Amino acid sequence: MPPKYFKTRGHLLVCQGPNCKARGSDLLYRALWTHLERHSLAYYKTGGSVRLTESGCLGACSYGPTLCVYRERGGRLEEGWYAAVDFPLSEAVARAVHEEAELPRERRYGPGEG
Ligand code: FES
Repeated sequence: MPPKYFKTRGHLLVCQGPNCKARGSDLLYRALWTHLERHSLAYYKTGGSVRLTESGCLGACSYGPTLCVYRERGGRLEEGWYAAVDFPLSEAVARAVHEEAELPRERRYGPGEG
């Protein structure tokens, strides 16, 4: 029997590498999880749609905490990369995924950067 698959609107990864952890990414990850749970945004909640996992180093160690997000949009895979992420920004990214809205431009780098 395979594991249950949950369809989501997007996947956020919060770096838990040593440099990001030194800048509080472990607290950020826990706070974001609590938020997704409380507001029923987490993918396994009724009506929820956001997947969140820890990640190893995302390759932007000097600019952490680093977060990346992947989702399908307009038939394409969209990626968003964020540096110096704090809780309000991570919440805004999660909310944009849930609402299928534009990703925040603030502190975004790489493809689609603001
Ligand atoms: S430790 Fe987070 S980007 Fe490298």
